[in-house]
Amino acid sequence: MNANFTLVDHPLIQHKLTILRRKDTATAQFRQVLREVAFVLGCEVTKELTLGNITIETPLEKTEAPYLEGKKICFVSILRAGNGLLEGLLDLVPSARVGHIGMYRDHETLQPIQYYFKTPEHLDSRLVVIVDPMLATGNTAIEAANLLKSNGANNLKFLCLVAAPEGIDAFSKAHSDIPIIAAGLDRELNDIGYIMPGLGDAGDRMYGTKA
Ligand code: URA
Repeated sequence: MNANFTLVDHPLIQHKLTILRRKDTATAQFRQVLREVAFVLGCEVTKELTLGNITIETPLEKTEAPYLEGKKICFVSILRAGNGLLEGLLDLVPSARVGHIGMYRDHETLQPIQYYFKTPEHLDSRLVVIVDPMLATGNTAIEAANLLKSNGANNLKFLCLVAAPEGIDAFSKAHSDIPIIAAGLDRELNDIGYIMPGLGDAGDRMYGTKA
């Protein structure tokens, strides 16, 4: 397996991913379960945050206790499907800053077309987590990371639900410094760039927009 890639194989995540994959999972359940998965994936993606000690008083005595210090977090959601993961991440880290990148895949070329970019300031002093459920060709993820780096980000991670081997290879060739964290590693892309077996179009599954 690619050294940049971490598969979160916790049984609860794997169980919930199966629910997300099933085609008869309804929109409301899909959104809820995605949010739950994101919460647990968020624990993995933030596990290297540094802790200091502070002095607090419990009802019984003063004690030293761990408290987060140092790098702050910014989640950057790739619209629109990234927003499904974002909700669970914000349940876990409500004080995180949030950026949005609007991109869609041209269905013929599979190349990303950018239409929106808004992030908080000082990306250079934050852990910046790019959030997009499906790492398929990797083109969108690569472009998002390029944009964020050119806006100062220097400590990035990429968080997705399901990754294809093609996407992992392309992304880690372009950005060998960015770890990829996923709940599922699938077989391949089909000839229209969908992950197999996958879960279909994550945005459509989340918002019930399939034609
Ligand atoms: N985007 C999706 O939503 N699903 C895929 O399988 C690939 C890209």
